[in-house]
Amino acid sequence: MAWKTLDDMELSGKVVLTRVDINVPVADGKVTDPTRIERIKPTIDDILAKGGKPVLLAHFGRPKGQVVPEMSLGLIKDTVAEVLGVPVKFATDCIGSPAKEAVAALQPGEVLLLENTRFHKGETDNDGQFAASLAALGDVYVNDAFSAAHRAHGSTEGVAKLLPSCAGRLMQAELSALEAALSTPTRPVVAVVGGAKVSTKLDLLGNLVRKVDYLVIGGGMANTFLAAEGVDVGKSLCEHDLADTAREIIKKADEAGCEIVLPVDVVVAREFKANAANEVLPVTECPEDAMIFDAGPKSVARINEILDDAKTVIMNGPLGVFELEPFGAGTFAMLEKIAEQTNAGALVSVAGGGDTVSAINASGHAKDFTYISTAGGAFLEWMEGKELPGVVALG
Ligand code: 3PG
Ligand code: MG
Repeated sequence: MAWKTLDDMELSGKVVLTRVDINVPVADGKVTDPTRIERIKPTIDDILAKGGKPVLLAHFGRPKGQVVPEMSLGLIKDTVAEVLGVPVKFATDCIGSPAKEAVAALQPGEVLLLENTRFHKGETDNDGQFAASLAALGDVYVNDAFSAAHRAHGSTEGVAKLLPSCAGRLMQAELSALEAALSTPTRPVVAVVGGAKVSTKLDLLGNLVRKVDYLVIGGGMANTFLAAEGVDVGKSLCEHDLADTAREIIKKADEAGCEIVLPVDVVVAREFKANAANEVLPVTECPEDAMIFDAGPKSVARINEILDDAKTVIMNGPLGVFELEPFGAGTFAMLEKIAEQTNAGALVSVAGGGDTVSAINASGHAKDFTYISTAGGAFLEWMEGKELPGVVALG
């Protein structure tokens, strides 16, 4: 890797500004999924073990440069302390006197959490003065927020240029997993891409067809491709105006030797609700008044055959409407196969994205994947082949 890690830094007695992503879901004042906090623990432990004082920089929600009490990191401070297993102090502002005083009072073995960086407009504007105010607080900068690295903000990009900087352990883990999955994968490599719309994933598809051997397309996106090939998809979610674009992607895939895998049979229903009356039909027989909600058993059998021979799979998106019973069957059957092959040591499996991780958690196979990213948008942009400003700034 082209950037430094914690192993390269002298941290004893130093104030270590550590950008983390603890943008966790909260309901009724409680953190409902602490995964992102758990994943920064190795970095915090290492900084403390090296005698450094971790000062956490983080955003929480999108307060748009205003102080929004419901987006105060003070609300999750106790959960952070509990998960990290160390005393966590809190400063009511991430710059200025509250921050300076809290840093000065920080004792060895303690962690300081600074208030939401996005309470300042300078954060999202990546304002030089804001970044300088952050930099003034510390000696060293560690970026452990891969999932926010697609944002060129003061705390992810600006400050990295002002202090000796390195990647944290989670950032390292994310980057090596992604590199193993797409930059230097063992072949054959399969990408599974799903989601509602092709229009939001054009860059992704364009990049993937050049890099993978099989591109499995699921969800509403598959309907757009099917329709482009002349298949009647009834009332299914479909971007008919993107037919030409879909055909171009198919052509590009052909030229690159990438096989696009579309459903050959589908599960259709007439109502968008759990346990709606449904049937399995060949893809060419979707009734005019029906909607496609899942890939059928023959389609999944074909995908699983490909996975049997694959060495690497990267997943971003489910095959169907997995949130509604029984339309998760296709996605869950594929996840079962990925889990089996990964556990057998035959497959490297990497996944990312909010929906994807929800589907994997619902399947009970989270522990069976080689790597599950904490990132949504950043994972997608990385899969699109884009440079992430937060990562570039470490180089
Ligand atoms: C996320 O939750 O995806 C990251 O924390 C980034 O948040 P953002 O999309 O508000 O920049
Ligand atoms: Mg996001």
